Amino acid sequence: MKHPSPPPPKPAGGAPIDKLAWKPGNVLSPVPVVLVSCGGEGARPNIITIAWTGSICSDPAMLSISVRPERYSFGLIEATREFVVNVPTSRQAKIVDWCGMVSGSRVDKFAETGLTPAPALQVACPIILECPINIECRVQQLLPLGTHTLLLAEIVAVQVTSAFLDSRGKFRLDRAGLLAYGLGQYFALGPEIGRFGFSVRKPKRRPRS
Ligand SMILES: Cc1cc2nc3c(=O)[nH]c(=O)nc-3n(C[C@H](O)[C@H](O)[C@H](O)COP(=O)(O)O)c2cc1C
Repeated sequence: MKHPSPPPPKPAGGAPIDKLAWKPGNVLSPVPVVLVSCGGEGARPNIITIAWTGSICSDPAMLSISVRPERYSFGLIEATREFVVNVPTSRQAKIVDWCGMVSGSRVDKFAETGLTPAPALQVACPIILECPINIECRVQQLLPLGTHTLLLAEIVAVQVTSAFLDSRGKFRLDRAGLLAYGLGQYFALGPEIGRFGFSVRKPKRRPRS
């Protein structure tokens, strides 16, 4: 079966698209920016802001975070081999930035931000209650790359804030007001503009009246 083709992308107003060559660097944008909670079990729980994170495998469900070994949080995660990725909202942008500016070696970030550490389901470190999605992770591999070490982790539990479920039980990311990051700037995510596969889905026929 032939899929309908999407309309060709046209430059605005038909103007030519001019390109500049930049030196190779981390310009992938936007990316999610998350609050990673770690520690617990003896060590005071801590929060580190991480922009270098991503989904990497469906089965087993895995994600990665990339952390500089000199970060206070790196030692906590290395010791427990556990962490939680907490997905923040755009209203929490200032907290996200702050947790990436100060070190848990000197301040209690939960106490200073007012964020609530709540029990996780499968790991010893707490989730951040106020974040709509909490992804509990157990480290499988550490891969030193250079400035950063890539941590490959299995997702062992997920919690979501039930207030964001609609009447059909679907989690409404659009209602959560999520945050994105790129090239040093924070962005509030806009409205939903499509669903997986919508480009090839045939429009539903209206029943004849
Ligand atoms: C927007 C943003 C994104 C960041 N992303 C990362 C990252 O992906 N990896 C990393 O090692 N540090 C990252 N940082 C820096 C750490 O969050 C920062 O050094 C933090 O203070 C470390 O906290 P800690 O000392 O309590 O571990 C980021 C900071 C900000 C503000």
